[in-house]
Amino acid sequence: MPPFMEPFRIKAVEPIPFPDAGQRRAALVAAGFNLFRVPASAITIDLLTDSGTSAMSAAQWSALFSGDESYAGARSFDRFERVVRELTGYPEVLPVHQGRAAERILLHRLLEPGELSVANTHFDSTRASVEAAGAEALDLPVPVEDDTPVPFGGDLDVAALDRLLHGPDGARIRCVVLTITNNARGGQPVSVANAEATRRLCTEHGVPLLLDASRFAENAYLVRARSAEHAPRTPREVARLIFDLADGCWASLKKDGIANIGGLIALRDPALATRYRDQLIETEGFPTYGGLAGRDLDALAQGLLEVVEPAYLRYRAESALWFADLLEQAGLPVLRPTGCHAVYVDAGRLLGHLRPQELPATAFANELYLAGAVRVTELGTLVFGRPDPAGGPDVPAPRELVRFALPRRVYTASHLRYVAEVAEQVAAKAAAVPGYRIVRQTGALRQFAATLEPL
Ligand code: F0G
Repeated sequence: MPPFMEPFRIKAVEPIPFPDAGQRRAALVAAGFNLFRVPASAITIDLLTDSGTSAMSAAQWSALFSGDESYAGARSFDRFERVVRELTGYPEVLPVHQGRAAERILLHRLLEPGELSVANTHFDSTRASVEAAGAEALDLPVPVEDDTPVPFGGDLDVAALDRLLHGPDGARIRCVVLTITNNARGGQPVSVANAEATRRLCTEHGVPLLLDASRFAENAYLVRARSAEHAPRTPREVARLIFDLADGCWASLKKDGIANIGGLIALRDPALATRYRDQLIETEGFPTYGGLAGRDLDALAQGLLEVVEPAYLRYRAESALWFADLLEQAGLPVLRPTGCHAVYVDAGRLLGHLRPQELPATAFANELYLAGAVRVTELGTLVFGRPDPAGGPDVPAPRELVRFALPRRVYTASHLRYVAEVAEQVAAKAAAVPGYRIVRQTGALRQFAATLEPL
């Protein structure tokens, strides 16, 4: 195979800002040392998220123009519905404005107080919807030793699910969810074998199996790359194998829809879909637009065709791997194997002189910003730690990770080389990087609004 490269050329460009060292420091101070509060106009390379940050293709931009903005029965919906049905095999298709709207509608109507939702890992917003319904979200990821690379680190612990289903809590389980890929677990894939084993248990116990399919195409590519059995199949065929095993899915199409907004619910059961449609009308809009413009539906339909193209997915996976190697050469402890949507770095190991309460992941992210206006996400004690109710130090997160998320088709190899060079500067002076303390925080989701100061 030829070496990988971007399988596209650039047709429209957008200038990026280059704040100097003084401007970077001023922006970070004004933001209370919280990168979520730094304006995008002060960011050179933004790797905060791969969600809603993709570049659309020429075909998607032209699809926008043929959008049908009719309130009911728009042509754009027909196209979207057809593409989703052909991809997933699910006949019932409900558009929504983004992933969490789908979760809110689906999980809120499905779950009763006291019931259990079990997943390989619930993404934060999924967990929030489960808990808002008065139910409990239980994560059963397959056990993986830290730093032991395994091909399917996104899998569900099927033996644990089996025990749970046969135990006293079995009757409380209302749904099982497979998040593909498993974002909270480094974007690692779920294998077909794991989805099959999960399906068998769900069938045996009459529990619905649902997919959070936000990164279904990346999951399919990684399955194909990591299991000889599925290597001869196209990514679309592998994706379909997994869709075939579930009763339905939801997805944030801000990821593998390669668009800036959108989401969906797709189901087999028409009676369930009718229930959800009622809720859709209440909170999102008429069922043929669901909180989106007709043109969004057209761009999404086109994006869902492009995202399963083998050349695109190969570029996506190989550029993540290439970038991970580059960061490692720059001296960063990189988590392996890499998935597609992000590269994760263990800031706790790099900044070994800081205790978790001194927020090493935040410290590393802020230093990267100061060094070169690169923005990444902290996934350490600021996000996952919990304040001690007795007023003592925070209960730390299990690990101090930083995520370098990769927007789709946005940054070229030279942009990522720049990020690695900036990271190398930070790694070279790791021992001098200061820790942080929280000055002000709100309750839940404190990472978005908290203000901090260096120690
Ligand atoms: N499910 C998964 C697996 C996600 O990663 C996300 C969002 C959602 C659901 C929610 O979708 O944002 O469209 O409402 N993840 C983003 C991220 C925010 O940065 O990983 P949404």
